[in-house]
Amino acid sequence: MQDTEPSWPGDPRTELAAGLSAPAAQIAPKYFYDRLGSALFAAICQLDEYYPTRTERLVLAACLEALAELAGTQRTLVDLGAGDCVKAERLFARLQPRGYVALDISADFLAAALARLRREHPELALGGYGCDLTTRWSLPDEVPRDGRLFLYPGSSIGNFSPDDACAFLERVRANAEADGQLLIGVDLVKDSATLAAAYDDALGVTAAFNRNILLHVNRLLGADFAIADWRHVAFFDVAHSRIEMHLEALRPLAVSWPGGERKFAAGERIHTENSYKYREKEFAALLTRAGWRSVRCWTDPRRWFAVMLARAD
Ligand code: AVI
Repeated sequence: MQDTEPSWPGDPRTELAAGLSAPAAQIAPKYFYDRLGSALFAAICQLDEYYPTRTERLVLAACLEALAELAGTQRTLVDLGAGDCVKAERLFARLQPRGYVALDISADFLAAALARLRREHPELALGGYGCDLTTRWSLPDEVPRDGRLFLYPGSSIGNFSPDDACAFLERVRANAEADGQLLIGVDLVKDSATLAAAYDDALGVTAAFNRNILLHVNRLLGADFAIADWRHVAFFDVAHSRIEMHLEALRPLAVSWPGGERKFAAGERIHTENSYKYREKEFAALLTRAGWRSVRCWTDPRRWFAVMLARAD
């Protein structure tokens, strides 16, 4: 856990080099989120095809009263993967938090979002930390331990494998006292065409988001990826209940970085992301497995997206 500088926690070079050198090359999805990647993700959230953001917003708006009754006011909101902080901000008026703590992998994007929040909510105690939530993170001591309400919206949990999702939820639980609660957004299984379109939009924003990861890797690792050599591939794998995103080499090529090189055949892919889609009962069971008591589940009329509230005790 670090304050809002530097812009990337830890040294990612070993992990990136290992992923690129593996027989099935991969880059972890956390590397999407440099400043441009975070902005591209914000653009994705506005696309017609990308239903999760607006569906979750509608579900949250509809359940806000019931949520406030169950969660109560004067909690410390802990926003896991806060991004532009807008989702949490919509809860402020009704939940009347005593404080707001934002965590995000992209510390400089977060710093800009917090500067805006400070202007618009001068009364609220605000904190922000650059944090890689895929590691063994803990909240710093200055964050009050009691009364924490963790927010994990946007189905970011879907970017973990189910086992890693369980480990992540256990870690959140370990950061909560008995009165802790968790509000989490979960994308649900639906028809494959709707899912595939959400990850391969007509405008090509998701393609740009995916390909931008190579520019980020170039900067972090000193690699020489040429993005024109790579195309975006996304599809729904029914058996694993997940969207897969890949980058596919358009021709035979070699990519090098200080101390390493990787050759790619035409058509060979780098796996950049999985986005798991759950059934409501499956996810409730996952919460239980991770030590949470699932309290309520709200969803939209088409049952495309669920918002679940869980409590620690
Ligand atoms: C951040 N995460 C929940 C997004 C998702 O839907 O898995 C990331 C994303 N990738 C492509 N489009 C959006």
